Amino acid sequence: MGELIDVCPVEELPPGARRIVTWEDIEIGVFNCDGELLAIEDRCSHDDGPLAEGELDTKQCTLECPRHGSLFDLRTGRPLTLPAYVPVDTFPVRVQDGLIKLEVD
Ligand code: FES
Repeated sequence: MGELIDVCPVEELPPGARRIVTWEDIEIGVFNCDGELLAIEDRCSHDDGPLAEGELDTKQCTLECPRHGSLFDLRTGRPLTLPAYVPVDTFPVRVQDGLIKLEVD
């Protein structure tokens, strides 16, 4: 198991909400997709766009890159539409003692 980093108390990330956390030299977006907690690196694999600021679809659990519009599956990090074609890293999310935590390594 990797290192666990604190994100925030569960009640601070309600359905539809997002939060960006920094770990070492990377930024990670943490999302609540209708109750499912998911995390993806905040860097588009196409042109390093700020992925986590994109439009979230909580029904499909997808995120649209604000720069050129690639749609990413938040569960797998895989792009569903061009121009991106390389997956983005995803991270396991846990809840422990009322705190959302991210597993990184
Ligand atoms: S930077 Fe994300 S689609 Fe181009």
